[in-house]
Amino acid sequence: MKNSLIVGNWKMYVTSTADAHILATSIRNGVADVPWIEAVICPPALWLSEVAEIVKKGAKTKIGIQNISYETEGAFTGEISPIMAKEMAEYVIIGHSERRAYCGETDVDVNEKVLAALKVGLTPIICVGKKKKDAAPTEPFKQLEEALKNVPKNALKNIVVAYEPIWAIGTSLNADAEYVAKVVTKLRELVHTDTAILYGGSVKVDNALSYAKKREIGGLLIGGASAKANDFIKICKIWSEARDIK
Ligand code: PGA
Repeated sequence: MKNSLIVGNWKMYVTSTADAHILATSIRNGVADVPWIEAVICPPALWLSEVAEIVKKGAKTKIGIQNISYETEGAFTGEISPIMAKEMAEYVIIGHSERRAYCGETDVDVNEKVLAALKVGLTPIICVGKKKKDAAPTEPFKQLEEALKNVPKNALKNIVVAYEPIWAIGTSLNADAEYVAKVVTKLRELVHTDTAILYGGSVKVDNALSYAKKREIGGLLIGGASAKANDFIKICKIWSEARDIK
């Protein structure tokens, strides 16, 4: 069985190098012997190099970046090229709802970033999700279709999708696991049988097991709880135990 991905999006929660150092070291040590999962931590870009150094000393934890430019080099003040990101990271979060909402990222931008990531060998974690709980269920599928335009079929197994209903992010209103499993099954029609499809949105220690029990779900994208080492490690362990096939 493939390892599940437990991705921690630190967002802008960790605001000093010292804190980033402590958090990365604790996570690296805490998940070192946890089977069936691969932990991916996505620190703020400024702490990437520090965190990459720490993580290098443990095989279980990988690095992701929270955003990239679709341009590779040139006069783009404040941007991070996918080529630069690839030096330190294996994964990149693309199309997170916060970037769509606060930075005006469109489906076209998301698509260009996905293509740029694949070109340099970064694995894109493409975020999709509908805004309102009672909105038509078509939004995430349309977002994913747009994100995958011109992506060659043989590259689909090299991407990760994160289903993140926007109403569930940072609200403590996590989506029902049964419902998530159904959406994941439908999203799978657009990708490869091996593509990991994660769930994200108010994942906490006390609800992680409900998602782990749904085999359709390939892992988690965790925001708030990923910036607390003990919570993140506990969630990794809960997931691992539930997916232990021995
Ligand atoms: P949350 O964030 O776990 O704090 O809800 C999830 C995300 O934004 O990826």
